[in-house]
Amino acid sequence: MVSNKRVLTGIQPSGTLHLGNYFGTMRQSVEAQDQNECFYFIANYHAMTSCPKPEDLKQRTTQVAIDFLSCGIDPEKTVFWRQSDVPQVQELAWFLSCVCPMGLLERCHSYKDKLAHGLEATHGLFAYPALMAADILLYHADFVPVGKDQKQHLEVTRDLALAFNRRFGDILTVPDAIIQADVAVIPGLDGQKMSKSYNNTIEIFGEGKPIRSKFMKIKTDSTPVEDPKNPDTCNVFLLYRLMATPEETEELRKMYLAGGMGYGTAKQMLFEKYTDYFAAARERRADLMAHPERVEEILQEGARKARAIAEKSMEQIRAAVGL
Ligand code: ADP
Ligand code: TRP
Repeated sequence: MVSNKRVLTGIQPSGTLHLGNYFGTMRQSVEAQDQNECFYFIANYHAMTSCPKPEDLKQRTTQVAIDFLSCGIDPEKTVFWRQSDVPQVQELAWFLSCVCPMGLLERCHSYKDKLAHGLEATHGLFAYPALMAADILLYHADFVPVGKDQKQHLEVTRDLALAFNRRFGDILTVPDAIIQADVAVIPGLDGQKMSKSYNNTIEIFGEGKPIRSKFMKIKTDSTPVEDPKNPDTCNVFLLYRLMATPEETEELRKMYLAGGMGYGTAKQMLFEKYTDYFAAARERRADLMAHPERVEEILQEGARKARAIAEKSMEQIRAAVGL
């Protein structure tokens, strides 16, 4: 991870957070806090592109804030806010739209994927990357930790920063994505990318029997119990490795290679590892759920800090474009 830089990322409040979100982005975000100036926000404007009911949008925004804080976001170290509490970002999104070639957005895979998964083809969905670019450029972020699926959106952001700077002067900081190679795509229950849209997720804060039965449903091959198994192509092993120490991982690897172990055993070990791994976060979460006013206070304080920076950036940007 980088140090002494401005690190920024957003998370959509589009549903319950899962292991793909945690290992793809959240863990890096938590680790980054000690050595960097961090800016993290709940992307509730972006969530509107999937047309949630108003009451769901509101409830999920609060829930994601609680989950993020539980996973270790420290508001003493990090500016943490709700995207819509700093509406200046919409103004910058418009400015960026005015230097954004249509072809740049037309090439975005994410838009096409979302249509293929049944989302309505709205202008908001199409222009999503311009708003995301505004999120990043408004705060002059140096680095943006994201999952691999967001790589193209970061390329769009860089292109828009360069296009804006060419036209209006050297104003916007051109950011870099941070994508950890070994956790680039976390597999879901069926082995495809874990994603809410594919209904194959394991929640970070799942509880009781339903979550255990999810672990038991992770897709594996049909190698008989007595035969040696390949850990490197097994989703159970891939997930275990994310939460276990190197020694524990090596131990399980040997069990795979030796044969005589059924996948049920590996799944049970994974389930126990998951329970331990998130135990402290689970406790923090219970505490925050009991004190929603504390969560609101944290978000308001974050928004105050973010707005001060946003307003200063916008003054310079408005002047540069001739407004
Ligand atoms: P979903 O695909 O479930 O809708 P989001 O699009 O809300 O998840 O993802 C939020 C963040 O988590 C993004 O930065 C994304 O890159 C990351 N992420 C989501 N799923 C995965 C995954 N399976 N592997 C790695 N990162 C992921
Ligand atoms: N598009 C991101 C996602 O779906 C969320 C997001 C919105 C974001 N704005 C951002 C991520 C700015 C990083 C930086 O996961």
